[in-house]
Amino acid sequence: MKQYIFPPDFKWGAATAAYQIEGAWNEDGKGESVWDVYCNEFKIVENGETGNVAMDHYHLFPQDVKQLKALGLHTYRFSISWPRILPSGKGKTNPKGVDFYNRLIDELLENHIEPCITLYHWDYPRALAELGSWNVRESVDWFADYAERCFRNFGDRAKQWITINEPWEDIFAADFMIGTPSRENMTAKVQVSHHYNLAHSRALQIFREIVPDGTVGIALSFHPIHAAKDTAENQKAVEIYDGFKNRWFSDPVMRGEYPADMLDFYRTNFNAPIIQEGDMELIESQKPDFLGVNYYSRHVVEASPEEPVLHVRLVEQRDGAWATNGEVYPQGLLEMLTRIHQDYDAPVIYITENGTSFGDEQPIGGCIDDQFRIDYVSAHLKSIHQAIDSNVKVQRYYLWSCFDNFEWVFGYKRRFGLIYVNFETQERILKSSAHWYQQVIRDNGLTA
Ligand code: GCO
Repeated sequence: MKQYIFPPDFKWGAATAAYQIEGAWNEDGKGESVWDVYCNEFKIVENGETGNVAMDHYHLFPQDVKQLKALGLHTYRFSISWPRILPSGKGKTNPKGVDFYNRLIDELLENHIEPCITLYHWDYPRALAELGSWNVRESVDWFADYAERCFRNFGDRAKQWITINEPWEDIFAADFMIGTPSRENMTAKVQVSHHYNLAHSRALQIFREIVPDGTVGIALSFHPIHAAKDTAENQKAVEIYDGFKNRWFSDPVMRGEYPADMLDFYRTNFNAPIIQEGDMELIESQKPDFLGVNYYSRHVVEASPEEPVLHVRLVEQRDGAWATNGEVYPQGLLEMLTRIHQDYDAPVIYITENGTSFGDEQPIGGCIDDQFRIDYVSAHLKSIHQAIDSNVKVQRYYLWSCFDNFEWVFGYKRRFGLIYVNFETQERILKSSAHWYQQVIRDNGLTA
């Protein structure tokens, strides 16, 4: 057995997101988010499930914070519900919404847990969606205004911030992971991605004025892209998909410029993005203090002339075990961390999400023995340890997730938590992985 001990100042955490845990979807003055509409009106979720109650974190957060304390977490990543703070997305602030997050932050600090706050984790205000959402350039101003309100209300105590969680998933996942991509809306979505990049940069500019002693970054999902078979057309497919999935978001954030090959590809095929005077100067001027890496798996692709948008398609390659988030492929995390280190001049990195689900695991005799989760996290921690040994500056690990929660279109059947949640009774049960992770934090590492 080998010991993998992490640097003495390494911070151990776990993560959640507002819509996935809070519930209280229409309480205390909260406005509706697009996810309230997707669930309650469009009914896009399996079995008609919604985040209306979730794990009722809005009411039960003091006991939940106690659980996080019991785990020994150094830091806890959560997100703020934009329409809970600004019911119409802009204009009047909701005092009860501000009060909830003030109480949550104070509860965390009283328990010596450092908050790490994501401003936007997909629960976009319905009222702004009805004004054009991220499609309109004014969305950049709406986000900047929301960010400023949050920094002013919470920045005196909360010093770790993430602007946006996974822009790619929020923009493209519905088409490319669940639905069928189409050429006509690709022009709009590429333009939207430019608005996300501008919004992120504006938020950093404001943050540095309001929270000068704070640390701010963004959480991007990264997937190594591999060819199903090593052919010339598949290698071209890898380049395109890697640019589409990874570099289109990480290059502007980390280098202040779009990847030339993708800019050319999008302008030629989709007439986008329209970049205004000063846009790239703003983006270039605002580098994050850390890059958040959300990692779950790799993607395997092959050239596919019939695929209408990129002429590339995902292949379900099963070299390793298969979890709900794709192939279990821990070596891909080492590959991505090494590449980020080399490509972006050795930035500080937080692993802002990593975890797994094998479905709707239920207690047996009041216990949940989730050895697969222990194996998954151990393997990925070993990859991180190997990266750190090669001088990659990974400083934090936020396991996804502390609690079972609402997994978007998959509802509650994909459980990712260290802590089991009975969504009928709101009972919480620590799984074996929770006890295991508690020991990892105590030992600042693992034996594997
Ligand atoms: C994501 C989101 C999380 C998911 C988690 C499990 O990365 O998709 O940030 O909200 O719930 O990743 O899929």
